[in-house]
Amino acid sequence: MNLAFVNNGSKIMGIFQKQILEHQKYIDYESNESTDFAEAYFKEMKKLENEPDFGGFGMQQLKNICFDLWSAGMETSTHVISWGILYILHHPEVARRIREELDSKICGDRTVTLDDKHKLPYTNAVINVFPDPYKFKPERFIDSGGNLKKIEEVL
Ligand code: HEM
Repeated sequence: MNLAFVNNGSKIMGIFQKQILEHQKYIDYESNESTDFAEAYFKEMKKLENEPDFGGFGMQQLKNICFDLWSAGMETSTHVISWGILYILHHPEVARRIREELDSKICGDRTVTLDDKHKLPYTNAVINVFPDPYKFKPERFIDSGGNLKKIEEVL
């Protein structure tokens, strides 16, 4: 395994440790709702506090899971975003249509949120995975009425 990855990996474990311990201070164990994964994990850990190594829900395991999620999610997401931007830069017509959609559907200078998703069929089509991947053609996701097609595997 790449040495830089191993060295940086142990630094990252230290960062996780610090954040986990900080987060642990503010957990409401009385509430059944959890605001994130670590909180749900700690509640499970508390239920199993009398088991050896918390029944497999120990601190080291939590750090390992955070590392898995971070490593699985980080490179993949940054690469997809970088490639997406690159494709858009090479297709100014697509960039223009995204811009027009955002200007007409999002009022003012605010941040776009997930709640806006249904208003932005073209922008959604640009960021979706697609069949025939060698052609950059977001229109394939728009139906004849100008709406985003419903595709099972896309959230
Ligand atoms: C655009 C971004 C992403 C791409 C392209 C991607 C791609 C993949 C692929 C191809 C697999 C293997 C699926 C299989 O063979 O069964 C996978 C698995 C996985 N991904 Fe992602 N991923 C992305 C984002 C993320 C994010 C953000 C996370 C976590 C925060 C994540 C966590 C995982 C995990 C935990 C697995 C293993 C699932 C299992 O086998 O149980 N991924 N991902």
